Amino acid sequence: MGDMPDLCGMELHLHRSIGDRAWNDLSDWLLREASRFTSVHILVDSSTHELVLPRFLAEVEGLADCHILEIEPGEASKELILVEQLALGLRDEGADRGALLIALGGGVVCDLGGLLATLYMRGIELVLVPTTLLAMVDAAWGGKNGVDAEGSKNLLGTWRPEASVFADVRALETLPDREWRQGWAELIKQAWISGGPLWDEVQKGHWSQSAFWLREAAEVKLSVVEADPYERGTRRALLNMGHTLGHAVESMVLSRGFDLGHGDCVAFGLVLESLILDSWGVPDAPSRAALRARIEADFDFDSLRTFSPTELWIAMQSDKKKHAGSLRLVWCPAPGTQEQSWNLGEEDFLKVWNRYASA
Ligand SMILES: NC(=O)c1ccc[n+]([C@@H]2O[C@H](COP(=O)([O-])OP(=O)(O)OC[C@H]3O[C@@H](n4cnc5c(N)ncnc54)[C@H](O)[C@@H]3O)[C@@H](O)[C@H]2O)c1
Ligand SMILES: [Zn+2]
Repeated sequence: MGDMPDLCGMELHLHRSIGDRAWNDLSDWLLREASRFTSVHILVDSSTHELVLPRFLAEVEGLADCHILEIEPGEASKELILVEQLALGLRDEGADRGALLIALGGGVVCDLGGLLATLYMRGIELVLVPTTLLAMVDAAWGGKNGVDAEGSKNLLGTWRPEASVFADVRALETLPDREWRQGWAELIKQAWISGGPLWDEVQKGHWSQSAFWLREAAEVKLSVVEADPYERGTRRALLNMGHTLGHAVESMVLSRGFDLGHGDCVAFGLVLESLILDSWGVPDAPSRAALRARIEADFDFDSLRTFSPTELWIAMQSDKKKHAGSLRLVWCPAPGTQEQSWNLGEEDFLKVWNRYASA
């Protein structure tokens, strides 16, 4: 595909800010850029509407005349019909091609807002204001957006130019523990990819300190994305460490109604996939044992041990389809190392699962 041409020259105005002053930076940015926009629209879900929007509006200047669009919280809102309804909402509020859309919420609001901004009148400018740890370290970066269809995650989506992102830790003050944990799993993964001091600190630290590592964790994602923007090579597949198994577990968790999120499933995937690497004799098993110790201190997988490995293996095959026939694990075998990829067969998987589940 090559580099995407930047037809609108939007990158000139691109801004990224992470930390405890990001909303102040957004105020400055809005004051500077306001003349480019004919209207400003904020997409929230009903939780971020109630818990984050009032403070956001009190602290960010330049939003006195903005319009609010609201969706229900949760993955169920990532559906195409909602994009259409929101587009009609924008139209009814008078949005033209000069409109600015601000997505204020977790990954769901960012993904849905991203798609809406890409499609509305063939594209309007987007600002992401992530409000969950997961969105701050992961979903807000990398230019992917999408919606689900009949349970197939992100079946419909686009690559969009990077949006401006303002990730302010003040948003996290109301985040429930369950949601902290979902982002923590991705942060641990990104710290492992980065290696060095970030991994050392995350290994010893606690998820409640995540605000300290936001910037570095987001930079890990950005640097991987920049090295492989359209997932042509294996570099970006590295962000899927733990996800080959994690996605399969997630689909089973959903069908059984367990109260576990994406991050919980990815954390479990990291544990199992690391054990598979151990079983192959891949060097540096002690580091992977430290990764498991980190994860097992924060996550509870008891309910998952009862899953049928055969069913899981079948669920994992939808991942296989993406890679022309073989199930692939892409990992840096030790923290901060170059990625490697392996094919995973059923027998090896079952052997590791059975040993793990009976331990
Ligand atoms: N585009 C990408 O590259 C990318 C990467 C990772 C994940 N994602 C997507 O992100 C989604 C998951 O994101 P998520 O975990 O942020 O889920 P989410 O957006 O559903 O947020 C989780 C819950 O937290 C609530 N919430 C959000 N901010 C809050 C706050 N500050 N205080 C209190 N409650 C708050 C939400 O209302 C929701 O109920 C998935 O759909 C996934 O596919 C996308
Ligand atoms: Zn993930």
